[in-house]
This record gives sequence, C-alpha cells and structure tokens, in this order.
Amino acid sequence: MLTVWEAIKTRRSIRKFAPDDVPDKMIEQILEAARLAPSGSNRQPWRFMVVKDQESRQALCRICAEQKFIEEAPVVIVCFGDPERYSRKEAQKRRQEFAESGVLETLSGRLADPEVRAAMELAPEPSPEQVRTPVIANTYIAIEHMVLMATALGLGTCWVGAGSREINRYFGVGDELVPVAVVPVGYPAGKYPSERPRVSMAEILVEPQIPAKVEKV
Ligand SMILES: Cc1cc2nc3c(=O)[nH]c(=O)nc-3n(C[C@H](O)[C@H](O)[C@H](O)COP(=O)(O)O)c2cc1C
Repeated sequence: MLTVWEAIKTRRSIRKFAPDDVPDKMIEQILEAARLAPSGSNRQPWRFMVVKDQESRQALCRICAEQKFIEEAPVVIVCFGDPERYSRKEAQKRRQEFAESGVLETLSGRLADPEVRAAMELAPEPSPEQVRTPVIANTYIAIEHMVLMATALGLGTCWVGAGSREINRYFGVGDELVPVAVVPVGYPAGKYPSERPRVSMAEILVEPQIPAKVEKV
C-alpha cells in the first residue's frame, strides 16, 4: 500500500476504467477510511451507498451528465450528507461521547468554558440553511479520505459533484439525505494520466500583514 504522501502524489481523476471487479475487502477499506475522517464537533454527517449493478450505474451516468466513466467503473460510491447529524439530539450524543472519551478535557479556550458549553446545549434546533455548508464541507473530507485510500490500494477514482435528488428517487433514498458526490471506483485503464496542472505555491500563499506596533510616547 502507498504511503499518504505517495497516494497524494499519485492520485489523478481517472476517467477510464478496466472492467475487472474490485475485491469487497478493498471497498470495505475505502469505506473505513471515510468513517475515520474528522468532522467539526465530530458530527460525521456522511452516508455512503455502494452501487455495483450495471443498470444502476447506467442510471447514475445518465443523472450525472452522461459521464460515461461512471457506468464503466465496476463500483460507484454515492455519497450523501445527512443534516440530521446536526440535530440537537445527535449533538447531545456527540457531547456525551466527548465527555466519556476524555476529549472534553483536551478542549481549550472558550470551547472548554463550562458556561459556553452549557449555552451550546441550550442552542435551538439549527435551520436547514445553517447546516447546509457544514454537511457538505465535512462530507467532502470523508470523500477525500476514500479517494486517497483507493489510490493507496492501486485503484482509480474520480470525484463527480452530484446534487440531483433524482439520485434519491432512483434508489428509494429519502429526501432528507443530500446527494453530494458520486465516486466511481475501479482499476485505471490505459495510460496512467500525468500530473494535472496546478497554480503555483506563490499563488496560494497569503502573506500575513503584521499590524504595525504603536510606539509608546
Ligand atoms: C467536487 C469535485 C467535483 C468534480 N466533478 C467532476 C465531474 O463531474 N467530472 C469530472 O470529469 N471530473 C470532476 N472532478 C475532477 C476535477 O476535474 C479534477 O480533480 C481536477 O481537474 C484536477 O485533476 P486531478 O484530479 O486529476 O488532479 C471533480 C472534482 C471535485 C473535487
């Protein structure tokens, strides 16, 4: 298996797959990598559906702009966000776990302040607008864990952003789950793509502007 750094360097969006089956053990490992991802307040707002049958892969291909490689990959992992994980009930569970697992003692600053924590417990049920971004952002983290694990196992993947509720309808999944992405998984076919272009390091770095010190008179 590749190291994390090797997987980061090796990963490409793969858009051509061999028809060979992917061992179930590997799919389990990919899903386990997602399960272990970090999330804000440990809410883990992600759900995954493993799709293998050809008819369903064809449907996903159709729903996701007819991108052929979705149908060609032997396995497609459909990734949903679950806003329910931000409900007061779930928040209470996570807080309980924080206390029981000793995480609470490691928190710092205002997050460790008992008064602030008590106020958090009294917070009202969050609105769908409030949880929309955290649901998607945190699910993205788990998806990238999956993608890197698949690469480490010698498999190819391609992120496909997918927000259509048609996915829910086709698979009989309740509309409470938010479709986030579809990830085809399989052995890469053809020539392995070379590194894709990226903006330079200079273009992504932001220089801190240290506030000028006021001279004491
Ligand atoms: C959120 C997200 C959505 C994407 N959706 C698609 C897609 O629908 N179809 C596709 O071919 N590639 C898709 N990509 C892949 C990007 O085009 C690709 O990551 C980028 O061009 C860099 O290439 P690389 O992944 O090979 O390094 C998506 C990537 C991300 C992160």
